[in-house]
Amino acid sequence: MLLITACIRPALQKYTPLNVLVNACLCSTAKHNDTTTNHGKTTLPKKPWRKNFRKKHASNEHLTWEDRLSDSVTPLWKLSYEEQLQRKQKHQETILLHLSDQLLFGESTRPEDASTSSPTSPKSTKLSFPLQPIIPSPVREGYRNKSTFSVNRGVDGNPKTVGFYVGTGKASNIVCVNADHLLNIPERHKLVARCYQDFLRRSPLQPCLLFHDGGHWREVTVRTNAAGHIMVIVYFHPQRLNQEEIKGHKSSLVEYFTQGPGAICQLDSLYFQESSKTRCTNEESPYQLLHGQSHIYEEVMGFKFRISADAFFQVNQGAAELLYRTVGEMCLPNGGKEGGTLLDLCCGTGAIGITMSPRVHRVIGIELIQQAVEDARHNAALNHTQNCEFLPGKAEVVLPRLMEVLDSTGDSEGPLTAVVNPARAGLHYRVIRAIRNHPSIHRLVYISCKPEGEAMRNFRELCCHPDPEKKLTGQAFRPTVAVPVDMFPHTPHCELLVVFER
Ligand SMILES: C[S@@+](CC[C@H](N)C(=O)[O-])C[C@H]1O[C@@H](n2cnc3c(N)ncnc32)[C@H](O)[C@@H]1O
Repeated sequence: MLLITACIRPALQKYTPLNVLVNACLCSTAKHNDTTTNHGKTTLPKKPWRKNFRKKHASNEHLTWEDRLSDSVTPLWKLSYEEQLQRKQKHQETILLHLSDQLLFGESTRPEDASTSSPTSPKSTKLSFPLQPIIPSPVREGYRNKSTFSVNRGVDGNPKTVGFYVGTGKASNIVCVNADHLLNIPERHKLVARCYQDFLRRSPLQPCLLFHDGGHWREVTVRTNAAGHIMVIVYFHPQRLNQEEIKGHKSSLVEYFTQGPGAICQLDSLYFQESSKTRCTNEESPYQLLHGQSHIYEEVMGFKFRISADAFFQVNQGAAELLYRTVGEMCLPNGGKEGGTLLDLCCGTGAIGITMSPRVHRVIGIELIQQAVEDARHNAALNHTQNCEFLPGKAEVVLPRLMEVLDSTGDSEGPLTAVVNPARAGLHYRVIRAIRNHPSIHRLVYISCKPEGEAMRNFRELCCHPDPEKKLTGQAFRPTVAVPVDMFPHTPHCELLVVFER
């Protein structure tokens, strides 16, 4: 215990020992074959929504391209905000009833069907735990702080069109439609998209529509913060160009956005990434700063966050604040007693852990993206927090070893609370197993923007009876309360917080 708690105090020293301990353990077990990884996979039914989508798509032909795009990106755009909230509340309830079914009757019902137009009705009619009313987003229009615009053939056939897709690659009916009318995108993002399109149309290089067909210019990401700063990242397929040639195109991009017509966007940062696959991390292909500031900063609940080009941050800053407040209340209910350790799994730039750091003894975050971990560490220092440490790597690799270290040092004394906020793929089975099998964790808050998907598998794994065959020996959790937070007005999605206790 002393070894680790002593390390919490000095800001510089605090990360190293836990890192070293966990890494040392990782080295010794990296070769150990885990025979249970298949439990991480689910066999989901074939997606019935595909048929519906095709039918719907064919029947959309009388609509303008703009309306088709609105229907695809912001399908609730014609409803009042109150109606949208009612619909989302009902949808979350249906998903949770499916969870109740799964917990009561096994895996016989299909949670994914809850998102289709003809869902299988859940057998359960009443939730065994409260679903609180959805928390509305404080901002409903132009709330997104990050947008990624694609490049492809427009309605007029011009391949240098910047916007969002209507149609699918699989059906070979993609049309790229300008996003100027979309309700969730801020004006400054739309301006960048228009300027990027103008730049592409002036450039001698072709856009990269299909990787194997050649072409260079790919999508553009725009990030903004509440203070009005703006970061732009242009993705570029190098194909067979040499560095000297690429340098020339980078210069014309900078010139366009700093001295040319694009100067109207008033960019604070311009990044460029040479990427020859759908998504490259910074380690695979570094984000190259061509102009301006290296980072963008956001403020949430009075805490400042540095965000790198590559790092995740909640897309709706106002709603994120409400989400984090609610997470705080759920992790530490009844006003929250001071103390204990908070595990912040899939922590991104550390927002959840850092905003909760004054209320706990210690925060340990785990995050896959190296740049985000560096941001999280920087953010802890920026906010003068002394009790946060962030570990890089896959949660499924780092957490099981961390649990052993906490056990062996006796440092897991006192309440250990976990908050998990994975990507749509959900948590790996080994993460669930490490949580289930650690008796000190009595409370877990699961945040998901797609609870009907892979998260449902995690819910089942958290709540099923102990199963020695699956090495799930720890006591089962049960859901005790759920709260939806509307992070994405005009879309069917929201964030769902589910508290599990045992
Ligand atoms: C939905 S974001 C949540 C970030 C953070 N909780 C927040 O509110 O800003 C999911 C995060 O999980 C990270 N991630 C994805 N797979 C992971 C894994 N296997 N292990 C650890 N982190 C992972 C992503 O890089 C991303 O930062």
